[in-house]
Amino acid sequence: MKKTDDQILVIFGASGDLTERKLIPAVFDLYCGGFLPEHFAVTGVSRSEYSDEAYRQKVVFENEFILKKEAGEDKLKAFADAIFYQPLDTKNTDSYNTLKQRLQTIDEAKGICGNYIFYLATPPSLYETIAEGLSHVGLNKAENAWRRLIIEKPFGYDLESAKQLNSKLLACFDEEQLYRIDHYLGKETVQNMFVTRFANSIFEPLWNRNYIHRVEITAAESVGLEKRGGYYDSAGALRDMVQNHLFQLVALVAMEPPVKADAESIRNEKMKVFQSLRPYTKEDIKTNVIRGQYLGSKVRGEDLPGYREEEGVKEGSKTETYVAMKFFIDNWRWGGVPFYIRTGKRLPTRVTEVVIHFKPNHHHLFAHDKSLSNAHNTLVIRIQPNEGILLKFDMKIPGAGFRTETVNMDFHYDELTDVYVPGAYERLILDCMQGDATLYSRGDSTESAWQFVDTILKAWEEDDIPVYGYPAGTWGPEHADNLIEGENMTWRYPCKNLTDDGNYCEL
Ligand code: NDP
Ligand code: BG6
Repeated sequence: MKKTDDQILVIFGASGDLTERKLIPAVFDLYCGGFLPEHFAVTGVSRSEYSDEAYRQKVVFENEFILKKEAGEDKLKAFADAIFYQPLDTKNTDSYNTLKQRLQTIDEAKGICGNYIFYLATPPSLYETIAEGLSHVGLNKAENAWRRLIIEKPFGYDLESAKQLNSKLLACFDEEQLYRIDHYLGKETVQNMFVTRFANSIFEPLWNRNYIHRVEITAAESVGLEKRGGYYDSAGALRDMVQNHLFQLVALVAMEPPVKADAESIRNEKMKVFQSLRPYTKEDIKTNVIRGQYLGSKVRGEDLPGYREEEGVKEGSKTETYVAMKFFIDNWRWGGVPFYIRTGKRLPTRVTEVVIHFKPNHHHLFAHDKSLSNAHNTLVIRIQPNEGILLKFDMKIPGAGFRTETVNMDFHYDELTDVYVPGAYERLILDCMQGDATLYSRGDSTESAWQFVDTILKAWEEDDIPVYGYPAGTWGPEHADNLIEGENMTWRYPCKNLTDDGNYCEL
């Protein structure tokens, strides 16, 4: 097991939603799992006034995401003792000296020796300000100790702002100190894609344009805005899900085998994928990128509002809640293989999966049944829920002749019942504590992903590309079906359970 140095985790945005729902519970899980170092503290920072005790009450003793773990009073108390709070307005430059002194006091009391992580969970408009404030009082560097900065998404609003953010952060911290978080990379199943491809000898020889017909990635959500209308309406699905989470999945599917399984080698290969994305022209965007917005509808007896009726959404908003697109990766491995990705809110179910469609047989020996002779083998890598892997291939139906039928071979993660699966934030925070940036995004690849997305955003701004409405609870605008060309070819319509698909399933 890697060593975790003694350290303080400083969370900016300590009174906010992310801290309460994800960050403190993740640190608590690390504590319960025995992963925290002997000398450790969390220091929460935001403008709201709390004493240490009042803050512990809020984020530990009254936090439903901690309480539901039913860990017992002693554990809660011992964990809470490591939590401190410093009220502070990060826009006020002088306040960073107050923070520095407070951290020194906590550091000395706990015997920590100067290692600090600064986690930015504030509105993104403050990221540069905080980095500059920390640098101003010398909290960005230390002799004989390390300093790291975790930056929450969104990392920029477009290519220009992402570049600007990168350059401002790099003026205060070195790239090695920066940890740009993408929680999809913390998911066990996402990491397992890397292992599935590179630990086995059966998949990689087929993993190229000679054998793969197309790649399909779906990240569907059944929820709507969940009170995040203010943020979402100025972001939209392309910025919220595609530029980061979906492109990270694309990179893992498409990358070349890295020289080593370390951060630099893996990030170098992912970067090459982003560099190989074939740029869209405006005409391409019209036909290859479909955007949609959900409309009010009755779903399982419940009346769901349309996007424009949601709180925080501007009247007549054209923000997309659904995106589907087709694109190509112009390199030796993937030349000519279309990639189809889609994501949306208020779709029929919550499911994220990667589907590899293999090319049909070169010679149709059992071609008497036309529909089957064209059958494609598929490999489904299910990220969530019902995590697992499904392989679909043809078998003989018992009896006379050679009639075939597609059957399933499947593996489910929950069969590994004795293995503890850490949550995404838990895994990523521990990696940062241990100085491992493998599962964090590097600045240059973030910019490359933005470069691709930026062209789409600019084309959409011109306003002659339609936003299609789709009723909440459906699979998005039907125009997205036309992206996939070819007879009998369509998206996989997944169900809650990995092995089910088609029209009749549990959602
Ligand atoms: P919230 O609005 O709930 O929290 C924002 C936090 O920032 C509050 O603690 C607020 O505290 C603090 N803050 C605002 N202004 C200042 C200031 N001038 N000085 C000091 N503190 C300040 O946002 P979320 O927790 O939802 O999101 C935080 C970040 O995480 C955002 O960038 C978001 O995009 C990202 N994120 C959030 C996710 C989520 O599920 N919530 C998911 C993925 C990313 P106070 O008002 O007390 O100062
Ligand atoms: C977040 C987006 O990054 O990811 C949300 O801001 C989205 O809009 C969420 O709901 C999806 O994450 P998960 O882990 O539930 O698939």
